[in-house]
Amino acid sequence: MKKFVVGNWKMNGTTTGVQEYAQGLIQILPAASCEIGIAVPSLYLPQLSARLGATSVAVVAQDVSQFKGPGAYTGEISAQMLKDAGCTHVLIGHSERRHVFAEDDLVLVGKIACAVDAGLVPIICIGEELHIRQQGRYLEELARQLAVIERTRDLLPATVWVAYEPVWAIGTGLVASTAQISEAHAFLADKLRELLPKSKTARLLYGGSVKGSNAAEILALPGVDGVLVGSASLTVSELGAIIAGTKVALPA
Ligand code: PGA
Repeated sequence: MKKFVVGNWKMNGTTTGVQEYAQGLIQILPAASCEIGIAVPSLYLPQLSARLGATSVAVVAQDVSQFKGPGAYTGEISAQMLKDAGCTHVLIGHSERRHVFAEDDLVLVGKIACAVDAGLVPIICIGEELHIRQQGRYLEELARQLAVIERTRDLLPATVWVAYEPVWAIGTGLVASTAQISEAHAFLADKLRELLPKSKTARLLYGGSVKGSNAAEILALPGVDGVLVGSASLTVSELGAIIAGTKVALPA
């Protein structure tokens, strides 16, 4: 199965930037041997999907409302609207949403339900904070965060995407070691096998300071089905280096 490289622009970008980026991406696509998804701010999603609609690149939303709507929810963007804008996937529970915007399990369950209902594939993000890792309680914490998947397991599509992103590795330049990634992914794969119905399979992305120079090593790890990339996804050249890393990871 092909690896999945998802770029998350966060709150970055301009109209001109999206245009240039899409153009650059189209040029490197023929050489790519992985699936690619790009998450731009909501405002730019229709523009990105107009540029990339004819390609295999998935247009990914960074967030979605927990409310189905339509309705009186000022500032919110519904799953149906994201679908209408050309999105196929949506990030849910990114650590910045959990920590800066205080999203809890109840909110996340609502978001997953709305996303699936609109036909969007959720990419559910989980990860432990530094103090939890230092206290040695990280596996327990990851298991706790899987509760949102347990509560929505009957709704989820046949392929359940989960991104493991240790909070201490996001935007810090600190990458989890290959041993730490392998341990977390093996643990999550086991737990997800237990809690998902037999008809569903979990696929796991790693995220946290992934860049061109470390992507191949991470992508080669068993149990790593792809990467979720923040700052290094902002330029096509760096994203291209990560995409090239998926080739190294493929068996000969
Ligand atoms: P980063 O962000 O690659 O900049 O560490 C990862 C993420 O937030 O998904």
